[in-house]
Amino acid sequence: MVKVIIKDNSGDELTNFAGNCDDPISTQAQENGTEVPVACGVGVCGSCKGKCTKGREFINETAFGNPQVDLADDEVLTCLCAIKKDAPAEAEVEIELESL
Ligand code: FES
Repeated sequence: MVKVIIKDNSGDELTNFAGNCDDPISTQAQENGTEVPVACGVGVCGSCKGKCTKGREFINETAFGNPQVDLADDEVLTCLCAIKKDAPAEAEVEIELESL
């Protein structure tokens, strides 16, 4: 189980859960009680953008499509990314949502 921690843009934790490779991280966070802002859901608007502050190497950033907005190296679109299939069970991922 990969632990995913979702934080707001102040660094305060909003939720954490066992991440998977089957659903976008935005959907997984919503299922665990955090209303991640999602508008287009296809990588165009940037509403769901987050800064990955830990475990970037365990994220498949194009699991559900290719981002159509400019991203810094540490940024991901949570509507498109998921945990990598081969991520080790003890891995931890932290994402700070930029719009919360
Ligand atoms: S919701 Fe538009 S880019 Fe993710």
